[in-house]
Amino acid sequence: MRIDVLTLFPELFRGFAETALIRIAREKGLLDVRFRDIRDHTRDKHRTVDDRPFGGGPGMVLKPGPVVSAVEATVAAGRFEDEAAAGMPAAPNSPEVKSPTPLMEPTPCIILLSPQGRRLDQPLLGELARERWLVVVCGHYEGFDERIIETLDPLELSIGDYVVSGGEVAAPVLIDGVVRLIPGVLGDPRSAEEESFTGDDLLDYPNYTRPREFRGLEVPEVLLSGDHRRVAAWRAEQARLRTRERRGDPADGAEADSKS
Ligand code: ADE
Repeated sequence: MRIDVLTLFPELFRGFAETALIRIAREKGLLDVRFRDIRDHTRDKHRTVDDRPFGGGPGMVLKPGPVVSAVEATVAAGRFEDEAAAGMPAAPNSPEVKSPTPLMEPTPCIILLSPQGRRLDQPLLGELARERWLVVVCGHYEGFDERIIETLDPLELSIGDYVVSGGEVAAPVLIDGVVRLIPGVLGDPRSAEEESFTGDDLLDYPNYTRPREFRGLEVPEVLLSGDHRRVAAWRAEQARLRTRERRGDPADGAEADSKS
């Protein structure tokens, strides 16, 4: 998969791209991630990306010109690099990326991160993990000029019903959630299959490891029994209990507030 992240703060992503899961995915050649500075698409000497809202009010709004140009340039560069990978002359690559560019469909899924977007959940992560190319636009300040949305027609995504200071905080959540679902990224694919929100909408069961006793707290006997059927039944029951306790009984409509 290829992911281009458009941001006002590319430096914020340096550690993220070079650590843990994202680094592993890049090293395995399963992920090609690039961070692009929206300010490179401004035309004035102050590299202005925002301005006051028409109609008044607090905060600043992201101007349409730099954001739309940044997306269009990213898509054009991606297509060119795609052709380069197919035998055309090589395009200059951003220095931080060493993994090869896979052949991809020429049309990326354009995602705009904003608290007004569709709420991200595990099934949507699964759908996004099947895409070949994501272009993720990080907002900042009071939000995007609405004409950015009208022009790009992106998938607007929110990581939850709360506000963080910008898409740079939300993007790692999205990217990590997607990348760990790309086949081959996780050492043991069961890790992604058996966890919370996968398939049955249940929270995960409690886990234990050594030591068998910690400060007087014992590991449940069934987990030491070696009886796989009893273990599976216990885990299923614990997952149901935990989900009901923490998220309410779906029959009461308690789940309704976690769905968009
Ligand atoms: N930017 C600010 N808050 C956000 C949220 N909840 N999701 C996505 N982007 C955001």
